[in-house]
Parts: sequence; C-alpha cells; structure tokens
Amino acid sequence: MTAREWVIVNPGGLRRVVVTKELPGKRWLQLLTAADCRVEIAQGDDILAEAEIRAALGDHCDAVIGQLTESWSAETLGALTAAGASIYSQYAVGYDNVDVVAATRLGLPVGNTPGVLTETTAQLAVALTFAAARRIAEGDRMMRAGAYHGWLPGMLLGSLLYRGTLGIVGAGRIGAAYARMMVEGHKMDLLYYDVRPSEELEHYMADYAAFLASHGERTVTCRRTETLEELLGACDVVSIHAALTAETHHLIGPPELAAMKGEAVLVNSSRGPLVDEAALVEHCRAHPRFRAGLDVYENEPAIALGLAELDNVVLVPHLGSATTFTREGMATLAAANVAAILKGWPVWRAAAGLEDVRPFLEDEAPPHAAPSIVNADALGLPRFAAQAPTKEDQQ
Ligand code: DGY
Repeated sequence: MTAREWVIVNPGGLRRVVVTKELPGKRWLQLLTAADCRVEIAQGDDILAEAEIRAALGDHCDAVIGQLTESWSAETLGALTAAGASIYSQYAVGYDNVDVVAATRLGLPVGNTPGVLTETTAQLAVALTFAAARRIAEGDRMMRAGAYHGWLPGMLLGSLLYRGTLGIVGAGRIGAAYARMMVEGHKMDLLYYDVRPSEELEHYMADYAAFLASHGERTVTCRRTETLEELLGACDVVSIHAALTAETHHLIGPPELAAMKGEAVLVNSSRGPLVDEAALVEHCRAHPRFRAGLDVYENEPAIALGLAELDNVVLVPHLGSATTFTREGMATLAAANVAAILKGWPVWRAAAGLEDVRPFLEDEAPPHAAPSIVNADALGLPRFAAQAPTKEDQQ
C-alpha cells in the first residue's frame, strides 16, 4: 500500500487541523487560516479506515473535519481527545457515523452543517419522486438503446401525483421543505408521521389552503397520523426524512411495504438503513407498478443484490446535498465550527430567529460563534446572545 498524500495549507499555522477529504470552495480555508490553523488535507477518493485516521491524528491534533462515510467510534474519538483536539467537525448535517454519546463523555464538541442543505436535499427528493413516478430513467435508457421507434398511446405510462396524497416520514427541516415543494407545486394533500407535531408545518399548510380558497381553488389538507401504517396505506408518495437511530433502523420493511398502495412511490434521501433494501427488491420485483427513488443505501456504496436490475427503481449516488452552493456552504460551516471552538466562541442558534446560518455564508464578517454543535447543551457550552446579532457582535 502506498502512503497517502496530504496537502498542507498554511504550514506555519499554530493549530493543527486534519481534514479527511478535499472540500469545495475557498472560504473554508480562509476561515481556518485566519484562525491560525495549519490545515492538513488527505488526498484521494477512498474512504479512510479508522486505523488510518488514528495514525493521521498522531499525538497532536487540535481539530478534525471528517466525513459521513467514516466511522468515528469511541476509540477513534478517544484518540482524537488524547491528541488534544477541541472539536470533531462533521462535513454533513447527519452524524449517525459518529458516537456522539462517547464524544460527550470525552467532553468533545461535535459540529455539523444544518440549514445550508435543506432546500437542496428536498429538491433532490422531488427530482427522485418524479423520476420514479414519470419513469424518467426508463425513458432515458430507451432513448440511449435506440429503442424509441415513435410515440405510442400506452408507452411508459406513469403516475400524475397532482392532487394526490403525499406522505412524509419525519417533518424536520428537510421533510417540511420537501412537503412544501410538493404541495405548493402539485396541490397534494399532506399526511405526516413524526414523534412530534409540527405546528409550523401545519400552520403553513393551513395558510396555503386559505390562499387556494381565496383564488377559488380546491384547498389542500394537512394532518399528522397516529401511526406509520395509516400514512403508508393512504399515500401515493411516501418520502422518508427521518434520522437514522436504533429505533428507525428498517423502519420500512416487509409489513410496511405491504401496507403501501400498489402504485405508490417510495423515496429515500435520508439514510439507507431506514429501508430494508432486500425487502424492497422483493417488493419491487413482485409489484412492477410500485416505484422507488433512492439516493441512499443500506451498505453504501454497495447496493442490494437485484436492485440494479429493476426497472421500477431509480438510483442515484447520495446526491442529496450535491450542488456547488451547498457543498461549499457545508465546508464553510464545518470550518466555522472549528474556528469558533478553537477561539473559545459561543454556539449559534441560541433562540428562535437565530437558526438561520446565512450570516456565516454571506457576511463579510461572520458572527463570532460556532454555527452548530450537536452536543452543545449536553456539554454546557455557552450560547450566542439571544437577541439578533448587531454589527458590533459581528466584528
Ligand atoms: C448529510 O449532510 O447528512 C447528507 O447526507 C449529505 O448529503
């Protein structure tokens, strides 16, 4: 095995920051350089194994920016704190690959990148919904194979979805953004399943229904279901937006698939293990009019045996956040988390109204705060002032 190549930026920097992949954009490096960091960036597209990560940390490392594809176990986080690090910063909003309980026990803040990928990921879920419902990938394959011999009344008929019923599993930021795109664009009735009611989403949908009524149009409805089964049985599209936890692992398995309509569309852009992929293969094989759109997989980057052979499934390689704006913004937020913790600054999002991460992305002088630390409260980290930041705060 040849030794990995590392690119060093700002070699004279006082604090050593290890970054396990090249990140897009320039702003993130400017933030770290301004925070007096020497940035060491691993080269190559392969996923760093834990042993290699631990070797890279060595006996001195102040911070890491890591990837969702890596395993950050208690042992590796222990090696990170033993090397003197003050933060692990995840280049993603999801952090199921990080043992946050262990990090908290070690007193180590864990950063993530919410906000900047909400619309981007929701948009990808919309794209998958219609790619599956309107059979876009099948049509594309037909064209490339030279198998299109002229328009036919019954060729590749899909589902309209307009004025149908939409179901979202998980009504957090991305789920709610997807629901709004689908309902506003396609006037669908909405059912959602979540452990908590989303008053914000319900109010929004009620206002939208009133808007439609004021234009003399039929309204739309929105309701939280008591059970997942109720939602599954009623919806034409079900899109999953829940976090992966021990409780949500295989949330969609054989009984849940059997509960869905025969011509329904299932979309997953959250985390692969929420769906029992082998069961999905079986279900799609047995129900050719059922469709699925997948961005994430149970054992990424591998996919279940038989999945690639199914015409009623659309597959993309974890592209949810893959726009230039979002991936550069994620890098900025991940670096801002590192810079802020190294400088001893407080954590952003102190109160309603401070959830917006745009100041970190757009302002010349970003706030003196860490955009998002998932275990901030558990660690008792100070929060940024509750009132909206003034120009002075930002200097
Ligand atoms: C995340 O940030 O968790 C996404 O999966 C990356 O696209």
